[in-house]
Amino acid sequence: MRLAQKKDLPSILDIYNQGIQDHIATLEEDVKSLEYMRQWFEDRAVRHAVVVAELPSAQIAGWASLNPFSQRLAYAGVADLSIYIRRDLRGHGIGSVLLTHLEDIARNYNFHKIVLMTFPFNQQGQGLYRKLGYRCVGIFKNQGKLDGRFIDVMAMEKLL
Ligand SMILES: CC(C)(COP(=O)(O)OP(=O)(O)OC[C@H]1O[C@@H](n2cnc3c(N)ncnc32)[C@H](O)[C@@H]1OP(=O)(O)O)[C@@H](O)C(=O)NCCC(=O)NCCS
Repeated sequence: MRLAQKKDLPSILDIYNQGIQDHIATLEEDVKSLEYMRQWFEDRAVRHAVVVAELPSAQIAGWASLNPFSQRLAYAGVADLSIYIRRDLRGHGIGSVLLTHLEDIARNYNFHKIVLMTFPFNQQGQGLYRKLGYRCVGIFKNQGKLDGRFIDVMAMEKLL
């Protein structure tokens, strides 16, 4: 587990696009470009860290990031989470290790809480979050559209 570098962006992009195409992780439906990912990476404050899980073969197995929750100063201690593991490597414990590592980084940057939005039907996501102590805050009904249909979105949080 280590901080992401620019050289990781093609792998981060591929893994993100797998998550988009699987329609279980995000309301984003259009795959992203490398230019989009470069901008996403460059526009971040240092504390909004991106971490990657690197295999002994030097391939990237997954990534996770602390995203801004709000521009308001009062919420400076709250980070929004993204986490994506390569499709063929899900369910092997990488997400657990990666998220635990990211939580340590979040504490070091004085975040007191991580929040996230997930789909109630995302079994792997739910499994990961509940295992690591995230609680369900509530469910937004018909919060967004995926494939032209309304989708419920679950808010979860963990106090660090
Ligand atoms: C969600 C995701 C990040 C989890 O990472 P992962 O490496 O697959 O998760 P882990 O192997 O560490 O599993 C964590 C826990 O989830 C549960 N779990 C794993 N696979 C599961 C499955 N298929 N169904 C239900 N629960 C599952 C288990 O409790 C597991 O812990 P355990 O093995 O110690 O019992 C990953 O599967 C992924 O990238 N999914 C697609 C993108 C996505 O959904 N991102 C999150 C958006 S909110």
